[in-house]
Amino acid sequence: MATTVEALDHAPLEVDTDPEFSSSDYSSSLESSTHSITSSIVDYVYENGRRYHRLQEGKYLLPNDETEQDRLDMYHHLQLLLLKGALFVAPIGDNPQHILDCGTGTGIWALDAGELYPMAEVVGVDLSPIQPEWVVPNVRFEVDDLEMDWTFRKDYFDFIHSRNVAQSIRDWPKYLEQMYRHTKPGGYVELAEIGLHSYCDDNSYKGSALETYIVSFVKAIEIASLMQPTGDALKKIVEAAGFVDVTIKQFKQPWGGWPKNSEMKRAGFIVSLNSATGFESYGMAPMTRFLGLSTDEVLTMCKNAQADVESRKVHAYQVMWHVLGRKPEKVRK
Ligand SMILES: C[S@@+](CC[C@H](N)C(=O)[O-])C[C@H]1O[C@@H](n2cnc3c(N)ncnc32)[C@H](O)[C@@H]1O
Repeated sequence: MATTVEALDHAPLEVDTDPEFSSSDYSSSLESSTHSITSSIVDYVYENGRRYHRLQEGKYLLPNDETEQDRLDMYHHLQLLLLKGALFVAPIGDNPQHILDCGTGTGIWALDAGELYPMAEVVGVDLSPIQPEWVVPNVRFEVDDLEMDWTFRKDYFDFIHSRNVAQSIRDWPKYLEQMYRHTKPGGYVELAEIGLHSYCDDNSYKGSALETYIVSFVKAIEIASLMQPTGDALKKIVEAAGFVDVTIKQFKQPWGGWPKNSEMKRAGFIVSLNSATGFESYGMAPMTRFLGLSTDEVLTMCKNAQADVESRKVHAYQVMWHVLGRKPEKVRK
């Protein structure tokens, strides 16, 4: 089985020391598109002032309200920037017929994929019915739990894409086995997941409020048994499911506009806009449910972490992992 691992560029990101830099150049331009959900579960659950999904209640720890939907669309913009405009890394060719987007969120990736491949059928699946109702004819959405048995045809999809569904998937081997079963021989799978840990090439992260938030968040996720596999651990699961030519790609995602490099700075400012609501989106349910913190305690932690990100004094970054694999033409028994 051929495998390739591309190492993360370990050269430190250079810090921009110019205090005069304005972030106004880096406001995001959000995309919007408008077709229909075939099954709808339009009932919601409210907690700590945020709205959560009703199907399989409590399974996914982030909210699904308008604030979160705006954040997801902005995050898509950030991912496009990191991938230099590309929607994915896998070499799927010019003529895919069937594409599946797992945990589609607002459906923004699926809609872009539908536009890129107008001849392809694109299906987006999510626990929450938060996708637009009117969309281009080749894109459709389904509300379902991807951890249940899939009812798609076997050997059907040319490409299965899954981005940031971690902290929700309990059984990764089963998730990958289902992907394998429903991928066409020769087709691809790509899983894009942000690692939970943050890195720093100087001492500015140690003791920061950002670190305090991340440590608490990771602790809550560990208690919830929702630590997701990334990198080599995820690669092994993808290979065990039967995919070959499994490749790992890594992209640095700076916490704020502190890097000197203009593309990384731009990415960092989008992260900063994103974390303004993202800290609460990610942290509120895990920290109140599993660490027993109060709403106010979590909000204070989020506010302090956000101040660090906006200050550009904490030179930390996360890693976005893309793990891709191909289903062999000759399928194993
Ligand atoms: C962080 S959002 C990412 C959305 C989208 N993939 C993107 O990158 O813009 C994760 C999404 O996965 C969905 N999700 C999580 N677990 C799921 C499951 N078991 N079945 C279906 N959808 C799920 C959530 O409802 C949420 O919309």
